[in-house]
Amino acid sequence: MKLKDKVIVLTGGSGLIGRALIDKIRQEGALCVNVDLATETNEEFTEVKCDVTDPLAIEGTIVAIIERFGRIDGLVNNAYPRTPDWGNRFEDVTYESWVRNMDMQLNSTFVFCQCVLSYMKGRSSGNIVNIASMYGVVAPDFTVYDGTGLTSPVAYSAIKGGLIHFTKYLASYFGPHGIRVNAVSPGGVFDSQHSIFVSNYERKVPLRRMAVPADMAGPVAFLLSDEASYITGQNLIVDGGWTIV
Ligand SMILES: NC(=O)c1ccc[n+]([C@@H]2O[C@H](COP(=O)([O-])OP(=O)(O)OC[C@H]3O[C@@H](n4cnc5c(N)ncnc54)[C@H](O)[C@@H]3O)[C@@H](O)[C@H]2O)c1
Repeated sequence: MKLKDKVIVLTGGSGLIGRALIDKIRQEGALCVNVDLATETNEEFTEVKCDVTDPLAIEGTIVAIIERFGRIDGLVNNAYPRTPDWGNRFEDVTYESWVRNMDMQLNSTFVFCQCVLSYMKGRSSGNIVNIASMYGVVAPDFTVYDGTGLTSPVAYSAIKGGLIHFTKYLASYFGPHGIRVNAVSPGGVFDSQHSIFVSNYERKVPLRRMAVPADMAGPVAFLLSDEASYITGQNLIVDGGWTIV
């Protein structure tokens, strides 16, 4: 029970990876609050409906969680808001779409971190895990999309690369206050993608399979826990070896 009695806030907990993260965090003994647009606020306040792209909604949610549970020990920024045209190839991405996705994904994480960190600073403890991506570390290998009509959005690389460096900035800035900030960068998670993409992907990745959501759960729980008490500013890449070849 490495997270016994901790209060952990996780965004996007109703999604593919988020569900596995919440299960693991709860198994490890924490009280985990899922903040997601796709959920309904419950009486126990372990599910909170909130749009993470709305700064006022974020602030209200953080205040309400602290009022209810007395503290926030950990925050996982995992939500994945994106525009309906997400996934367009480079030539077809409009300026408005680029700006909107930056705002929805990167700027919302800034607001969440700023709100929670001002509170954690007052207690001189706490830690944050930002869910980035291996595509924030290396460029996409576009050959895995051959024959599928799919691609990796250009904004994704910019957002996740920015998020990894934002993580390091926060770790350096808040280290003196006893606060740790790390990132976890998943590789591709299997979600019934196009079969050609899946076989291209499996051929390239050293572990020869796509990730499953539970692959991300142990690493996130570890970084949230006191077992990682001297780890900050790191990006833990959980990609089956994709980025080493
Ligand atoms: N799935 C992958 O292969 C993969 C790979 C690398 C990184 N990641 C990252 O992992 C994280 C989770 O991805 P996922 O695949 O589970 O995504 P997902 O789409 O399955 O889940 C995302 C969750 O975010 C919530 N959300 C969306 N907009 C929101 C908003 N405005 N306010 C609050 N909640 C909102 C959704 O309701 C959903 O529950 C993302 O940051 C993603 O970039 C995913």
